[in-house]
Amino acid sequence: ADIHYYDFALQEANFTKMCSTKSMLTVNGSFPGPTIQARKGDTMFIKVINQGTYGVTIHWHGVKQPRNPWSDGPENITQCPIAAGTSFTYEVILSTEEGTLWWHAHSDWTRATVHGAIVILPAAGTTYPFPTPYKEQTIVLASWFKGDVMAMITNSIATGTNPTQADGYTINGEPGDLYDCSNETTYRLSVEYNKTYLLRIVNAVMNEEQFFGIANHSLTVVAQDAAYIKPINTTYIMITPGQTMDVLFTANQTLSHFYMAASPYHDSVLTFPNSTATAIVQYEGNYTAPSSPFFPTLPAYNDIDAAQKFTNSVKSLANEEYPISVPERINTRIYIAVSLNALRCSNSSCDTADGDRTAASLNNVSFDTPQIDILQAYYGSLNYVFDPDFPSEPPVFFNFTGDVSNVSMYTAQGTKARMIDYGQAVEIVYQGTNLGAASSHPMHLHGFSFYLVGTGSGNFNSVTDPTNYNLVDPPELNTVNLPKNGWAAIRFVADNPGVWFMHCHIERHATWGMDTVLIVKNGTTPNTSMLPRPTYMPPCS
Ligand code: C2O
Ligand code: CU
Repeated sequence: ADIHYYDFALQEANFTKMCSTKSMLTVNGSFPGPTIQARKGDTMFIKVINQGTYGVTIHWHGVKQPRNPWSDGPENITQCPIAAGTSFTYEVILSTEEGTLWWHAHSDWTRATVHGAIVILPAAGTTYPFPTPYKEQTIVLASWFKGDVMAMITNSIATGTNPTQADGYTINGEPGDLYDCSNETTYRLSVEYNKTYLLRIVNAVMNEEQFFGIANHSLTVVAQDAAYIKPINTTYIMITPGQTMDVLFTANQTLSHFYMAASPYHDSVLTFPNSTATAIVQYEGNYTAPSSPFFPTLPAYNDIDAAQKFTNSVKSLANEEYPISVPERINTRIYIAVSLNALRCSNSSCDTADGDRTAASLNNVSFDTPQIDILQAYYGSLNYVFDPDFPSEPPVFFNFTGDVSNVSMYTAQGTKARMIDYGQAVEIVYQGTNLGAASSHPMHLHGFSFYLVGTGSGNFNSVTDPTNYNLVDPPELNTVNLPKNGWAAIRFVADNPGVWFMHCHIERHATWGMDTVLIVKNGTTPNTSMLPRPTYMPPCS
């Protein structure tokens, strides 16, 4: 295995998009930020030099970081921020991941502008489980805010008001021809006739799931979240914030160009930017321009069936060469009700006259981010930082997805973690609820990938639903789409000691408290214990 070194300079840079200019935080002045690349099993050292004006952390989304939570990154969970004018070197340890992942800032909403792709090639001497593509290209989907995202979210938290929605979306940093002032810079992918391309697609959008497709070209999805899947032939994908997908397509058309497009899939009552980012697949050579441009036909923004149909078609490759290791029996089931609800508040951060503000919760606990990171607190036994009593089930059982009009909407804030013994086979059942606004939730877990063994609509039935679990070829993910008013069951072995954040990857929901922490205790041997705390961790102020 090799070692790679990268420098990430966090710096402000000016960008003009959708007819307006702003300064924003970037890595090395680029948007999206640099792609980092390694082979399976390699280690990357990334020196983050903060030349900005506020503290930031970076997370390596989907990298398990075996025994090394110190470099995982979520702010005030595994480290305190890298203060302006200081630097910190992350040790990113790749293990079983192969395919595409991504990195992003994990401090408030800085990930809007601070993110990029991680490409993990097969180990030396091995190849893809599909014919080697002619070329590869990362495709990063993101949100674009005309305003300063940090100022917006700071103000939103201070006043208890809902965060502003984005002004649109981008593909590889460019909004594309459908947005004002944007058609000069539309991203173009040039292709040669009859060649096959591998797109490494990252959904870095802040708040909306996306449908994506290419006009007149069929897609073959071959990996999700850096694990191979049984190839899916489709005209569109649905990708949630946080997810990554590897998609092949062959340039088999004979006109000069075709649009690829990303537009939101949105199933909640909250408002969202209902607009489409485009890029162009440009054929090299003498091809006629189409008389009118071809756009992919994507499902409507509220097409839940199309979204679920795609999601349910994903299965692990699960063959001799790429075996899976889903636990057949479990030691622990954690049942988590996922809700958008309200918080009573009595200070200035209330947005309504009756003293309520929008909140989100897991098992009715709305996560309150501490001032000292939980990892340090756990390691140093600072028992005032968090409570190790995150509930294993909701405080009350009700008809979660039915009529909830007589269920209290109120939640309470807390900084709670769930303790798990090393080596336990864990099942987590996420249960969507109809409280507040029902919505789907891309639930993400740090430190692990997990198997999605079952999902369905309505309330989870602990007697009948497990009998239908897929233990043969469940997809291996780090971010699972919990369907609106439905449930999703995941399994994994808790063999990675550390402090691991778990949260909805819709940033708005995470900000409102849809987060918690799993703490996997050390095993009994040095090899099953956390690495020692590096002496150079950023200090907490
Ligand atoms: Cu992609 Cu906790 O994040
Ligand atoms: Cu959510």
